[in-house]
Amino acid sequence: MDAQHDVLVVGAGCAGMRAAIEAFDAGADVAMISKIHPTRSHSGAAEGGINAALGNASEDDPETHAFDTVKGSDYLGDQDAIEILCREAPGDVYQLENWGAVFSRTEDGRIAQRPFGAAGAPRTAYAADITGHVLVQVLYEQVVKRDILTYEEWFAWKLVVDDGRCQGVICWDLLNGGLKVVGAKTVILATGGAGRLYTGTTNAYSCTGDGMALALRAGVALKDMEMMQFHPTTLAPTGVLITEGCRGEGAYLLNSEGERFLKDYAPNAMELASRDVISRAEQTEIDQGRGIEGNVLLDLRHLGAEKILERLHGTRELSMVFMGIDPIHEPIPVRPGAHYHMGGVDTDAWGQTSLTGLYAAGEVACVSVHGANRLGGNALMETITFGKRSGRHAADWALANTTVTVPEGVVTDAERELKALLDRRDGERPWKIRDELAATMHENFGVFRREDQMQRQGQIVDGLRERYERVVVEDKGDVFNSDLTQALELGFLLELAEAMVVCGIARKESRGAHARPHDFPERDDENFLKHTLVTSVDGRPRLDWKPVTMTKWEPKERTY
Ligand code: FUM
Repeated sequence: MDAQHDVLVVGAGCAGMRAAIEAFDAGADVAMISKIHPTRSHSGAAEGGINAALGNASEDDPETHAFDTVKGSDYLGDQDAIEILCREAPGDVYQLENWGAVFSRTEDGRIAQRPFGAAGAPRTAYAADITGHVLVQVLYEQVVKRDILTYEEWFAWKLVVDDGRCQGVICWDLLNGGLKVVGAKTVILATGGAGRLYTGTTNAYSCTGDGMALALRAGVALKDMEMMQFHPTTLAPTGVLITEGCRGEGAYLLNSEGERFLKDYAPNAMELASRDVISRAEQTEIDQGRGIEGNVLLDLRHLGAEKILERLHGTRELSMVFMGIDPIHEPIPVRPGAHYHMGGVDTDAWGQTSLTGLYAAGEVACVSVHGANRLGGNALMETITFGKRSGRHAADWALANTTVTVPEGVVTDAERELKALLDRRDGERPWKIRDELAATMHENFGVFRREDQMQRQGQIVDGLRERYERVVVEDKGDVFNSDLTQALELGFLLELAEAMVVCGIARKESRGAHARPHDFPERDDENFLKHTLVTSVDGRPRLDWKPVTMTKWEPKERTY
């Protein structure tokens, strides 16, 4: 064993850092492992804001926030967890403010809040349109202040499971090469999502579903994996996020005929309907020939230069750098892109998984507060509140338990597996398989889903998994061998894709992000008001179901 800690956090974005801070403050010896430097985490790409019923800009309360979230989830969210999120959110946001988060302000100095989709009140606290970036910096300051150790540029490859407990992580040291073994009484997965399963995605290159796959391989169930959110406003062809904050500030979506087409899909909420509704509307317009080269237009011009420069300067810059378009003068072409996985590692409201000692928080986890569709602004909030909760619980557990064992065989097996991969001289290059995976997921498991396409995607993923067995890593070196790590990441992605397709085929209804307009156009509460659960049995997915936890909100028709 190269090192040992009470609590080991895998991933150092908002959820990971918040978990580490809490575990440290609870008295645990804590460390983080991250394949990238913490301030480069994908949490920094969250732009528009963080939801909490501060009631600063209008009447609002946690109960209203909870109801909006339940409805937004198309009733698949667990209501007990949602109530916890919405109740703890205001205190957690004020704590970020006390730590130095530079939120935008109202005239009288309170935290400013903007409207976001499917929210009954302006509830999204923001720092212009770089909120995630601001939170990452603030959390990192707190990490540095506490001198929390970070194993930076270490790639988490395997969990150590012994005696029915998770007891550490086997990593590949990206800078120096070689396997490193870190023992821990508790491990918190906070590795984010798997948007790189898709060609068009807002997600960074690092979002390869590592934690989900690690949990799956350790026998832990993944929940609601079919629920991949498509964000309505991403830039073609890169997939760069154009924040929902634009629509929160009043931007319009237009089709090729210059019409605000949302009038036909969400006549009340218009551009502030929920993301699943807007993405479907856009895709319908595009499919029916009212798009512009596969896009619709996001028009900010009427907001005026002053507002754009003050509140949406990041958006303007992205749009100018990546498209050569200045939104002060021209509308931005946008399309739906894979953005956020509502599904993930099945946890309770303390981040505990079914494997003793293993926790998960943030996008990697499915608590589930987002159900079938997440509200914009609830992701950052989830990272903070459930990062905190999992950090606290993991620390308490670790401090009450003493031993850590990493059996020698676990490490030698890992070494042997790695050697076999690196010794292979002929075979297929990983990028070919990865590109095919991403293109076909986009085609066959996107905004709209059809039985025949999902079946075909299942066969395609099977074929890709077979080809992956013969994948060849050409770079045999130790230093920053991204050829090797991309091959390992591809293994993660393939297993997750398989799990998603199995769940998608089994959910024979339309709910939130899972839209089957051709065969099952309606939500079917009688048969499918339940979570999908996937576990890995002999390397293949086994499907089960789990009831949704309801507290006070009965399912109703969902319109905006
Ligand atoms: O559009 C956005 O700013 C994204 C925010 C989110 O996904 O919560």
